[in-house]
Amino acid sequence: MQYYISMLALLSIVFHLSFFFITADITRFDENYEITWGNDRVLSSNLGTQIQLSMDASSGSGFRSKLSYGIGFFHLRIKLPDKDSAGVVIAYYLTSKGNKHDELDFEFLGNKEGKPITLQTNVFADGVGDREQRVVLWFDPTADFHNYQILWNQHQIVFYVDDIPIRVFKNNKGIGVGYPSQVMRIEASLWDGDSWATDGGRTKTNWTMAPFKAHFQGFHINGCPKSDPSSNNNSNQECFSPNYWWNSQKYWTLDSKQKGQFENVRRKYVNYDYCSDRHRYPVPPPECLHQ
Ligand SMILES: *[C@@H]1O[C@H](CO)[C@@H](O)[C@H](O)[C@H]1NC(C)=O
Ligand SMILES: *[C@@H]1O[C@H](CO)[C@@H](O)[C@H](O)[C@H]1NC(C)=O
Repeated sequence: MQYYISMLALLSIVFHLSFFFITADITRFDENYEITWGNDRVLSSNLGTQIQLSMDASSGSGFRSKLSYGIGFFHLRIKLPDKDSAGVVIAYYLTSKGNKHDELDFEFLGNKEGKPITLQTNVFADGVGDREQRVVLWFDPTADFHNYQILWNQHQIVFYVDDIPIRVFKNNKGIGVGYPSQVMRIEASLWDGDSWATDGGRTKTNWTMAPFKAHFQGFHINGCPKSDPSSNNNSNQECFSPNYWWNSQKYWTLDSKQKGQFENVRRKYVNYDYCSDRHRYPVPPPECLHQ
């Protein structure tokens, strides 16, 4: 009897393990990423497939991809700090080097427990940014992992939350708007942004709540890798190949279902958009009129 019970237990473990390996992204962190700062504040678990970043009063922490990428469909699964996180910023972004850099940002702006966490996005091209948009998330991002994705091809950049498009930045080079075209690394970090992040900087980080912890999964990278980001030619031209699935026509525009989802997000969850900020931009930037 004992034997049968342990056989059953064993079978059940094997079943659950295989389920885990079939459904989960089992790429280990250190296959594609490396720690950039706050060394001992970066902890690995689940056989290296999950990472915890933390911040205390002396330091935050961060990591980045080992390679640079010119185009791709990037993602990370993130679970935000689960208590009062006012002033705490979790950033997940792509960035190139140099002073006329390109950058695509997700920034989670922490808040007092029970108050909504804002997700800010920004797009820099040729060193020009100041294109903030903010949405209030429609779920509690501290309760579980959610998938945050960035599509970047020659036609459009789309920020998604759990496959729902929250922002589209089209390639408007035709009307003189810069468009990211330099190879970029993926970066993620947890840091103190209490000079600006929460209530415009009025609500400060409560250090008695430290350490603040965020969790990351999903270290597989769908991108066109450039192994030598230091080479003089920073262009992503060679990444336009149709052999990359994210370059196929399906990804040139949103489909009708995605358009519906996007309009719903715009209507219900956007709480700031630089395109409609007439104090900052008495004349809306050209890309705002060609969306
Ligand atoms: C900081 O957190 C502590 C512990 O929960 C709490 O007692 C205190 O009121 C908080 N301070 C502020 C300014 O919210
Ligand atoms: C960079 O390489 C691409 C092809 O990969 C080429 O089309 C482009 O002209 C090069 N740019 C420079 C500045 O060499």
